[in-house]
Amino acid sequence: MVRARQVAVLARELGFDESKPAVEIRGLRVWIGGSEILKGVSATIPPRGVTVVLGPSGSGKSTLLRCINRMIDLVPEARVDGVVRVFGVDVRSVDPYELRKRVGMVFQIPNPFPHMSIYENVAIAAKIAGVARGRRELDEVVRWALERAMLWDEVRDRLGDPPSRLSGGQQQRLCLARALAMKPRLLLLDEPTANIDPENSKKIEESIKALVREEGVSVVFVTHSPHQAARIADYLVVVYRGLIVEEGPAREVIESPRHEVTRSLLSGAM
Ligand SMILES: Nc1ncnc2c1ncn2[C@@H]1O[C@H](COP(=O)(O)OP(=O)(O)O)[C@@H](O)[C@H]1O
Ligand SMILES: [Mg+2]
Repeated sequence: MVRARQVAVLARELGFDESKPAVEIRGLRVWIGGSEILKGVSATIPPRGVTVVLGPSGSGKSTLLRCINRMIDLVPEARVDGVVRVFGVDVRSVDPYELRKRVGMVFQIPNPFPHMSIYENVAIAAKIAGVARGRRELDEVVRWALERAMLWDEVRDRLGDPPSRLSGGQQQRLCLARALAMKPRLLLLDEPTANIDPENSKKIEESIKALVREEGVSVVFVTHSPHQAARIADYLVVVYRGLIVEEGPAREVIESPRHEVTRSLLSGAM
């Protein structure tokens, strides 16, 4: 098993300080082509919890997430202004590849590597991130990640199969396992259950909650579902038309929303 000490060393390479907020966003503006997609947003996302980013389609949720792990660098014509810090570290001050090893991401559409086996899909991530040395450690990390993603029991007898043999929901859990195999301290999930069935969605939600509770991971979970937000959020950030209209402890925001947009979103009217 990869020891806690080893994981802490990996995160320290980047200078992560987990006593700081998981993410601090200050005056973030993003333009793509001629349009202003994020219009000067600020937020402080606490560590060791699930922060849900809620907002209707097109409001800038994915763009916000992409600024956290600098995937925005890969968007042609995107221009970014403002500051994003992860555990106290300005994401602009570090190598984006190193950053993405410690800040995992899962996307809306399951995207396992089609030409690799189930085992290799997870193992490659552990290898790239340098969290395992030798076959035995690698096997342990792969098993740990698949267990954490609540997939191990379903694939343990067919680790050599291609991911195409799995259902969509299983493939998404494989992608979660792949992200976890890098031992990230921050996990970004962009509507990870939007395209899978309720049974699989539930497994992903449970897996995320356990990760936070038992491994102290910090999670930013994008969704447009108020029901999902109510189930999993410790902290809630509401995005609308490129602005953060409200943020706070989830219970407070849900029980007494201050903004009209939040009320509409929570009632399902938007
Ligand atoms: N690569 C891109 N090129 C052009 N426009 C983009 C790109 N990415 C996002 N946008 C635009 O930015 C706005 C916000 O998009 P996005 O962040 O994906 O919103 P959400 O995730 O909330 O649905 C949308 O109007 C979208 O069309
Ligand atoms: Mg999106």
